[in-house]
Amino acid sequence: MQINHLSLTNYRNFSRLDIDLPDGPIILVGANGQGKTSLLEAIYYLATFTSFHATHDRELINFLAARESLAVGRIVAEVDKDSEQHRFEIRIIQETNGINGTSRVRKEILLDNMKVKMSEAVGKFMAVLFLPQMVEVIEGSPEERRRFLNLAMSQVMPGYARTLADYAQTLTQRNALLKQLQEFGGDEDQLQYWDELLVSKGAELIYGRIHTIQELERVAARNHRELTRGDAILRLAYQPSYDPLPQAPGQFSLPIEDPIDRSGLSIDSIRSGFTQRLHEQRSADIARGVTALGPHRDELRFLENGIDLGTYGSRGQVRTAMLSLKIAEMRWMEEKTGYSPVLLLDEALAELDPVRREDLLQKLTNNGQTLLTTTDLDLFTGEFVAKSKLWKVNAGRVEVGE
Ligand SMILES: Nc1ncnc2c1ncn2[C@@H]1O[C@H](COP(=O)(O)OP(=O)(O)O)[C@@H](O)[C@H]1O
Ligand SMILES: [Mg+2]
Repeated sequence: MQINHLSLTNYRNFSRLDIDLPDGPIILVGANGQGKTSLLEAIYYLATFTSFHATHDRELINFLAARESLAVGRIVAEVDKDSEQHRFEIRIIQETNGINGTSRVRKEILLDNMKVKMSEAVGKFMAVLFLPQMVEVIEGSPEERRRFLNLAMSQVMPGYARTLADYAQTLTQRNALLKQLQEFGGDEDQLQYWDELLVSKGAELIYGRIHTIQELERVAARNHRELTRGDAILRLAYQPSYDPLPQAPGQFSLPIEDPIDRSGLSIDSIRSGFTQRLHEQRSADIARGVTALGPHRDELRFLENGIDLGTYGSRGQVRTAMLSLKIAEMRWMEEKTGYSPVLLLDEALAELDPVRREDLLQKLTNNGQTLLTTTDLDLFTGEFVAKSKLWKVNAGRVEVGE
């Protein structure tokens, strides 16, 4: 998969950008605050329809343009998928109400010039993104790890994003009813309807995560062994909030050092087990007014040689593991869909020792379309630079070079 042409209008500090993109590695060089990360953000938006660091789409519209009563930030990409060609367009539209001056932001997605829903467009274009702050996936709260999984799985598995949204909505409804029962009492059987829905959507998520994590682990472990020259064994340990695996009596949680294989479990067995546990939890859930069990509380831990990286990893170790994971995400997407996603690496070489930098670049040399940003070209090897396009980013302009 490859972007042939990208154009941005009133997007962040790009008032207007029109560039052709080649296959293979492209290095974006520039000082801080010139637009390198924003360019990657725009491309990633085409894959996920969300920004990784804006809290609101409003922030993506160019400041100057946003002063007008109607402002449109636009991302357009022409994409090659083997022999197919597709045009993707995203419009982020801000309209100001003339009477009270309030403004409203909405977005439109066009696929081959036809307006489509987000659920129809997701997965059509795929990208994998690494950002320095993504070490939070390993070191931060469980929510970060669920988000990582959800973004990767949504792009690859048809229906995952829909199931996730349905699950979240069901959870909200069930929690509202729990609060009501907690405060005013009433017939607990009113929960039945929401329990069934929660289980049906939840079991799909758990089943998908069991298999995805196992597949990702296999590729990530291989990458990580290479990036650490055989030193480190990386493991991904899924800790589902509702664990469908029967546990030994008296054993409340299994130690994460031991690999646990849940891949033989059928979705039916997950459903029936989850139903039962949810039922057993009812009184406790009502007392708390929230649903304590389910994929919204899932956890995933990263272990290197048996040690939990989230708690004990050094910066360099965590960063290397995250890069192994990102490359694994890309290979996994390829295996699942037959298309290789566009790879976006923001300041990926910083904080790595020279040997790891070299090993990483070695792995990327023959990759498909790859955009790498840097403030410092010296971090790259001469060999890699020779094989890359070198583009300068300066105040919202891109100087395309050879
Ligand atoms: N909506 C916006 N309109 C105009 N400029 C913006 C907007 N959002 C961010 N910027 C500016 O864009 C610049 C580019 O940021 P960024 O892409 O993070 O740069 P880099 O990655 O090259 O350091 C920053 O100076 C930032 O202040
Ligand atoms: Mg940046």
